[in-house]
Amino acid sequence: MSVNRRELLTASALLLGGPALSMRLAAAPATAAVVATSPAVLCWNENPYGPSPAARAAVARSVADGCRYPPMPEIEALEDAIARHEGVGREQIVIGTGSGELLCALGLLYGLNGGEFVAAEPTYLELPEYAKARGATTRFVPVDADLKHDLPAMRARVDEHTRAVYLCNPNNPTGTAVPKQAISGFVRGLPPNVVAIVDEAYMDFVTDPAVGSVSNLIAEGQPVIVLRTFSKIHGMAGLRLGYAVASPERARALREARMTFPNILAVRAARASLDDHEFLTRTRTRILASRTRITTELARLNRRYAQPQGNFVFFDTGMPLKDFSDRMKARNVLVGRLFPPYETWCRITIGTEPEVTRFIRALNETLNA
Ligand SMILES: Cc1ncc(COP(=O)(O)O)c(C=O)c1O
Repeated sequence: MSVNRRELLTASALLLGGPALSMRLAAAPATAAVVATSPAVLCWNENPYGPSPAARAAVARSVADGCRYPPMPEIEALEDAIARHEGVGREQIVIGTGSGELLCALGLLYGLNGGEFVAAEPTYLELPEYAKARGATTRFVPVDADLKHDLPAMRARVDEHTRAVYLCNPNNPTGTAVPKQAISGFVRGLPPNVVAIVDEAYMDFVTDPAVGSVSNLIAEGQPVIVLRTFSKIHGMAGLRLGYAVASPERARALREARMTFPNILAVRAARASLDDHEFLTRTRTRILASRTRITTELARLNRRYAQPQGNFVFFDTGMPLKDFSDRMKARNVLVGRLFPPYETWCRITIGTEPEVTRFIRALNETLNA
């Protein structure tokens, strides 16, 4: 990890302090410097614009209900709203404490008793690592020259031991995405006993018209489970809510493999956020504008980068990542960790506009030092 837990907690404490903390600090010159030097936290692929105004209001209204379990009718109302959003029945939706919980549950479902997965390298490792700790194996297939999933090579690694293929589209950490048609063809060509787990956490930031959700394949009877999260475009990473879309049978199995159920604040915030279209549109516009700003700057600096389709950019710093991240940290910008085998590449999350300005300034200083 390029950032240790203590640093993260310190940064989070400053961020979470919000306006009240800023006001207190503004009144105390000795500590005002702390705010001025608080780090730009660009290492966790969070969306700093969230939660949406509607979600914040729902949380504020619900604090006193923190003594209650989320009422079943409210959970069902959220599942219904998600089902309408996805165009499926409620029995096909499984909500989880973040999509991470569902990834772990899928790691259990398909990984126990010597299960094998196929996944790209590099990719998001929550499922493979959780499954590995329970005796499962993942066959990693390097991404192609454009840092995209190499679907033909992944298909070639599927054999009689494979239980599931994990496809992260757009992929974390590379940010690249493969077209919907390519994934559809891949899924249709899988042996009947192999499931495709398609993680679409960043799908809302996609601009490539050829890329899209493959949740429609479920209605065709294809073996697909799609995962989505409220942590990214909805900006609710700290509230923890995600969901899966699957056939009713696979949804039932996944529901039974969950470890817990989401908290009352997350359930209400998610329900409100789904309808806050103004926030969602504005967030996407701002993040995409900053993404273009970053790639334009990288191109100007002659830095190679993978075509970004998420709320982050993966680029070649031209130096060992440790050196780069230390220099950025000295300028109060926290960047993503190392993703082997990309020893010189860095993943930078798209923060607020002022944070992007700080990143660009620090990047120039670091590369020109
Ligand atoms: C590809 C991908 N899937 C899932 C997750 C987990 O998200 P959640 O906050 O919903 O657990 C992340 C988090 O960064 C991610 O990058």
